[in-house]
This record gives sequence, C-alpha cells and structure tokens, in this order.
Amino acid sequence: MRLSIDDPDRLYKSIKRFAQVKETPFLIIDRQAIQQRLEEFQKAIGYAKVFYALKANPHKRITAFLQQRGVGFEISSEQELRSLLRHRVPPQRIISSNPVKSNTFIKGAYSAGVRLFAFDSYSEIEKLSEFAPNSKVYARISVSNEGSQWPLAKKFGVDIEDAVDLLARASEMHLEPYGITFHVGSQCTDPVTWVKAIEKSRIVWELAKNRGIELQMLNIGGGFPIRYTESVPSISRLAHVVRDAIENSFPKGVEIFVEPGRALVGEAGILVTTVIGKAVRNGQRWLYLDAGVFHGLMESIGGIRYPIGTVKNGPASEWVLAGPSCDSFDVISADVELSEPEIGDQVYIMSAGAYTTSYASRFNGFPIPRTYFV
Ligand SMILES: Cc1ncc(COP(=O)(O)O)c(C=O)c1O
Repeated sequence: MRLSIDDPDRLYKSIKRFAQVKETPFLIIDRQAIQQRLEEFQKAIGYAKVFYALKANPHKRITAFLQQRGVGFEISSEQELRSLLRHRVPPQRIISSNPVKSNTFIKGAYSAGVRLFAFDSYSEIEKLSEFAPNSKVYARISVSNEGSQWPLAKKFGVDIEDAVDLLARASEMHLEPYGITFHVGSQCTDPVTWVKAIEKSRIVWELAKNRGIELQMLNIGGGFPIRYTESVPSISRLAHVVRDAIENSFPKGVEIFVEPGRALVGEAGILVTTVIGKAVRNGQRWLYLDAGVFHGLMESIGGIRYPIGTVKNGPASEWVLAGPSCDSFDVISADVELSEPEIGDQVYIMSAGAYTTSYASRFNGFPIPRTYFV
C-alpha cells in the first residue's frame, strides 16, 4: 500500500480503515514511501555517502529500516547515540554534525567508536581534542539560507578566515582536519544557494591547502525539500546542480557526505487528527483539532504549510486551524480550505513524517501522537 496525496481516494480509504481502530492523534508512516525516497536519493546523489539526520524522525522502526539498507546516521545527543547502538549501527556509519556538543555526548560517541565530528569554535576544538583525540573533524561554515523555509543560519557557522584558522588550530591539537560542512537551511528550494555554499567551501578548502592542510571531505548537509502545498525542485535536479558545482570547484576524489532528514521521511507521514471544536470569532471560522503546534505541528509556526484534507466532499470554505492547548501560539494555519467538518470528523495533515513527532511535547497534558506503520 502506498499512501499518497496523488491518489486521495486510496489514501482516505486506507486512513479510514486504520482510523477505526486507533485513537487520534496518530502518525501513519508509509515505509514504501521512505524506500522510494531513499532510492531516489541514492540514485540522484550516488556520488555522496548518505547520513540520515536522525532528528527528523528517530522512530526505532525507521532507524531499523534505514540501518538494514546500509544508510549512515547523523546525530547530536546521547539518546540518539544509544538508539543507534541498540540497532547495532557500526560507529563508522555515525557522524555528528552539530557544531556544539556536550562533553558527555562527545565522550560517549568517542568510546562507541565515532570519529567524525563538526565544530565551529575554538572551545569545541578544545573539547574534541580532550574527549575525542585524533578524530576527524570538519568545520561548519556560515552560508546563505536564501530559499529555505526553515532557516538554520545565525546559530552556527563561521566565516572563511575563521574556518581556516580553526582547521589549523585543530591540527595542532591532536585532531585531523578532515573537511568542511554547511547547511543551506531546511526545506531549501533555491539551487543557487547550494552553488554559493559550495563556492564558499572551495575558498576555505584552498586557503587551508595553502596553510598545509589537505582536506578530504565536503559535507553538503541537509536541506533537500519535499512537497507540502507547493511543488519544489526534484532531488535529481538539485543533485545535478550540486554535482556540477562540486566538479567545477573541487579536486577529483573528494569525499562527499550528505545528511538528508526531511527529504527521506517527510512525505511518508500523515498525521491523523480529530476535530474537537468549532467557533466563529470576529467573522472567522475556527476549527480546533486534537493535535497542534505543541503536539507535532511545530513547524507550522515557522511557515511550513501542510497539505490538509478531510474525507468530506462538498463546497470548501476557509478555516483557521488550531490545536487543543490553551496557548494562543497553537494555531496551525490561518487559512485552510476545507469542506465543513463536524466535531468528531477526522482531519489529515499530510507530508507530516519529518519534524513532527520528534518535536512534539506533552504540553497541557495532551499526548505525543503515536506512530503506526503501513
Ligand atoms: C547538521 C544537520 N544536518 C542535517 C540536517 C537535516 O536537514 P534537513 O531535514 O533539512 O534535510 C539538520 C537539520 O536540522 C542539521 O542540523
């Protein structure tokens, strides 16, 4: 069974059958969809080693699924590390690209055999040198996040000169300067942003070489977009642009890493919710669901617009869609077109496989949606 918004009849039929036996809210993950995205990704970016960004959806069955297919993992925390070790993921297939890590995490990852870590500050180099000596380290550079709907700029990344200095410091401190990484921001739809980031990486690479540092790896991070309400450039198109940019600027044989999160699991998930209330406020029609911003749909406050549907047919009208908590931030969308649902009807949030359950809290006593697999 392949659940897809391209085939709404089949989708609704499948959800309906499922929904009769489960209490909402819950997330359905379609493993066939993950398989399809993985194959597409591997075909398009065959030149890169794939490390799934576990934060996108760390469910153990997704981990097992990807582990069996030989995918690597990108992690940041002890919990993520433990989960991978439980699934017997070999440490050579684990990297940590969060430039700021806790000492405990670094120690734990190192003792488990992980040897690839990102950094973007002197203090991180000191920590890595002490707790993960002789590891391969890569500098996170700051790049434009133009075209990203979930920007990751500002918090991390250094400029060209600092990156080169830090790589040089790393080599003086029992670490192996190994490469460069960047993140163009999540859900990035502008290919030029990757090209510019690769160009910036090339400058760092060459300046490092001039200082006697021979780098080997370029990690192009995540950012590959999925379809929400609007169409996005295909993975193969982006992969093509990225490959051309790398071939134009980097020496042959450079090792390429890629860390997709959203692109592997996002379109494979559907969050099934139920209408718990309706109201008219200042002339606007409000619909309240049993899951909201705090219970899986956090990204809606940053501008992610999920495709939303019901099993109802009939004329559609505009609704403000809100979650169940008392907080006024708990508004999923200010303008959704839906055929009028009744209390107790189900509402389906599509493309909800990434950054939903992993962000969800139990705020106000509402449960984190459970995940079921088809
Ligand atoms: C270091 C790193 N790599 C990869 C990812 C995955 O990004 P995406 O889900 O946009 O592919 C993230 C997301 O926050 C990240 O911080």
